[in-house]
Amino acid sequence: MRRKMAAGNWKMNGTRANLVEIDALIRDHGAAKSEVLICPPATLIHAMSGRADARIAVGAQDCHMSAAGAHTGDVSAEMLADVGASHVITGHSERRADHGESDADVAAKTAAVWAAGLVAIVCIGETLAQRKSGDTLNVIGAQLAGSIPDGATGANTVIAYEPVWAIGTGEVATVGQIAEVHDFIRAELAARFGAKAADTLRLLYGGSVKPANAAEIFATSNVDGALVGGASLKAADFGGIIAALDAA
Ligand code: PGA
Repeated sequence: MRRKMAAGNWKMNGTRANLVEIDALIRDHGAAKSEVLICPPATLIHAMSGRADARIAVGAQDCHMSAAGAHTGDVSAEMLADVGASHVITGHSERRADHGESDADVAAKTAAVWAAGLVAIVCIGETLAQRKSGDTLNVIGAQLAGSIPDGATGANTVIAYEPVWAIGTGEVATVGQIAEVHDFIRAELAARFGAKAADTLRLLYGGSVKPANAAEIFATSNVDGALVGGASLKAADFGGIIAALDAA
């Protein structure tokens, strides 16, 4: 059985004043059945992990592919582990778009996350143009193959399907669209890693998930949870998503 996961990605939002949201999340959802993860900006990881104890996991949104070295401004997975991160998002579409990260870069970062003993949340997703031209499954297949190194297991990797056109737009993929891609990802993983290993890997959906649409998304084939941006910033909103996941 795959444990369900509600992961929040605060993106470049939040200062120490926002740590009260973690207190509220712990108060209301510290005993959730689902695994709950918040990925704040790197500046908040240490304080948040101290505050969250073991009831809520704290992760990072990116890392460098090297463990240390002359890379001004970058942060390594080891450093993130040192301040209490247990997970690192790799290959988010905003990193791919804003920083030109390729599938090979994402694979190298994912390997760095594993080397630090952390769990990678590897993001893949098609653009609107790719969907309109009928390329969605080709794009997803290529990103999946190129972004995940050999050695992925349910213990070190979570995969997030996030259609780029649904991120921060209020536009949610239909249940049919989500099921088609998640079923495809599961089949591709089974072909590469074997059905048994593929069965342990959790597949999150991401893109405008809100309390109001969460239950429908969580009832969809091969959806093991969500990666949530905007609606993870407030404990009340994210809590609604966690409750829907627990009930699914
Ligand atoms: P959103 O972002 O929930 O604000 O659409 C999702 C994500 O980018 O992870």
